[in-house]
Amino acid sequence: MAATGSSSSGSSLTGSASSGSSLTGSASRTTPADITARAVASFDGCGDPRLRELMQNLVRHLHAFAAEVGLTEDEWRQLIAVLTDTGNITDARRQEFILWSDALGLSMLVDALAHRLPAGATESTVLGPFYVPGSPLREFGESMVVESGAGVPAWVYGRVLDVSGAPIAGAEVDVWQNGADMLYAVQRPEAEEDHLRGRYLTREDGSYAFVAVRPVPYPIPDDGPVGRMLAATGRHPWRPAHIHMIVRAPGYKTVTTHVFDATSRYLDSDTVFAVKPSLLRTFVERSPEDPERPAGVDGEWVSLENDIVLAPGDDGGAVVDPGRTA
Ligand code: BEZ
Ligand code: FE
Repeated sequence: MAATGSSSSGSSLTGSASSGSSLTGSASRTTPADITARAVASFDGCGDPRLRELMQNLVRHLHAFAAEVGLTEDEWRQLIAVLTDTGNITDARRQEFILWSDALGLSMLVDALAHRLPAGATESTVLGPFYVPGSPLREFGESMVVESGAGVPAWVYGRVLDVSGAPIAGAEVDVWQNGADMLYAVQRPEAEEDHLRGRYLTREDGSYAFVAVRPVPYPIPDDGPVGRMLAATGRHPWRPAHIHMIVRAPGYKTVTTHVFDATSRYLDSDTVFAVKPSLLRTFVERSPEDPERPAGVDGEWVSLENDIVLAPGDDGGAVVDPGRTA
């Protein structure tokens, strides 16, 4: 995107005047490009080169946007009102600014720029607002379904591997998901805190397994400014069915990812643009009589195989949690 201006200098209000004060009638007219140039130049003295680059490019692109669309005063006022509403609805639990970032594709872009992984490594995707650190550490194969009626039981299993296919023992698979009611436990004050979340360590052969439920599509929180934008623009608020995973192991890059139900609705119109084809998996329908039926599971169930491949490197396993839960 080109900046609006080709002004030769943003450093002086009087430099282009023919004579005397710039307020006299003989001074040249101030153009939109002059205004952009002055705003950009206001950061020339910033001692932090990265901050200078960020601020000057922000001004250039913001001004170019306004100039390109011919932003009206009324539209500018509406934009301020939307930002004000976004601030007002944001608190320790609700982070509407990140939801804007998600719904405009910025979160996925920043994620892609930050995680350029080698071929074969499991691709990353957006963290989302419902991650709560410190899930209980559970045994191999243990169920993370604490409340009844959460959905069709799903046996989720696989291995954590390196890019050469060698198993990684002791990797941590940190999992969370929504239930059949479309909600994460953290969204329901009355919920059992550890419902549909858990951490699992891989065995010597890199294997992990747990009982979850088959995820269902759900809408992102759409009762605020982001939801109003989606409605006004004819977009829906839905995400395709998925289970979240963060996988960490010493000596490897932590990956924050999802596994998506390959048959889900909304795969091609995820509100937050988080679907990557490599993350689609098939939930296999299994009968109650199937001899592989996991202990404690009754009736129909499904299974899902999902290997995770970690890239070499070490980032200490930290997930930068923006501290939001809705
Ligand atoms: C989620 O998958 O939990 C999510 C991601 C982005 C926005 C809202 C929800
Ligand atoms: Fe989610």
